[in-house]
Amino acid sequence: MVGNDVFLFITAVCFLFNFSIIVNANSNAYRQVQSRTWDQAISMAKSFVAQLTLEEKCNMTSGVKGSCAGNVLSVSRLNFTGLCFQDAPSGVGDGVQRSTAFPPGIQIAATWDRDLFFKRAVAIGEEFRGKGVHFALGPMMNIDRNARHGRNWEGFGADPYLSGENAFYYVQGLQDQGVVATAKHYICNEQETHRSPVASRNQVRTDMINYVAYSANLDDK
Ligand SMILES: *[C@@H]1O[C@H](CO)[C@@H](O)[C@H](O)[C@H]1NC(C)=O
Ligand SMILES: *[C@@H]1O[C@H](CO)[C@@H](O)[C@H](O)[C@H]1NC(C)=O
Repeated sequence: MVGNDVFLFITAVCFLFNFSIIVNANSNAYRQVQSRTWDQAISMAKSFVAQLTLEEKCNMTSGVKGSCAGNVLSVSRLNFTGLCFQDAPSGVGDGVQRSTAFPPGIQIAATWDRDLFFKRAVAIGEEFRGKGVHFALGPMMNIDRNARHGRNWEGFGADPYLSGENAFYYVQGLQDQGVVATAKHYICNEQETHRSPVASRNQVRTDMINYVAYSANLDDK
């Protein structure tokens, strides 16, 4: 049941901005955003999900390979044109050509200027929108607990209050452009060393918890 509710919620977020379901990713550029109320979005999401096959739901929740960092396939029967998920926290990334490298999170945070936090996010959101990206995979809001963490620049520093304010304005500025923001990474990604576990095929899942990758971010070693 919890899984169903989460799926419905995510689908409702898509309907909230009136973009992905009726507009092709490539023609998404510069369309005016018409936002909906939560009630309208939830009701559209319920009706949409009720018409999906199990396979379509599985594909939608697991994603498929495609031209974006993350992809959801289209369902033409329902006029759903698919979704494109793209990094990154300081502009459209993942090798997308002709995109702007905006000042990184750590720099904008150093201004302590909410107006600038917001303006930067609006500009980033406009570019995501202009390139037909539906979900931006940011803001990155991990607290910089380890100075050696190679991704500290993506986030907003070591101060939780400053980080929170930045994340708030980032989400607001981006979503005002009709692009869904993705706050990350809530837990267990505060440094990259041993980020991914490596196990051979015949190792059982329970062995994995002993790997350093599981532990490196948890302060238990
Ligand atoms: C689900 O995804 C697989 C793998 O990409 C694809 O072959 C299949 O056609 C998809 N099914 C539907 C119903 O879209
Ligand atoms: C899909 O779009 C066409 C053309 O706009 C429309 O006639 C049809 O009712 C739509 N189908 C669904 C399931 O929304």
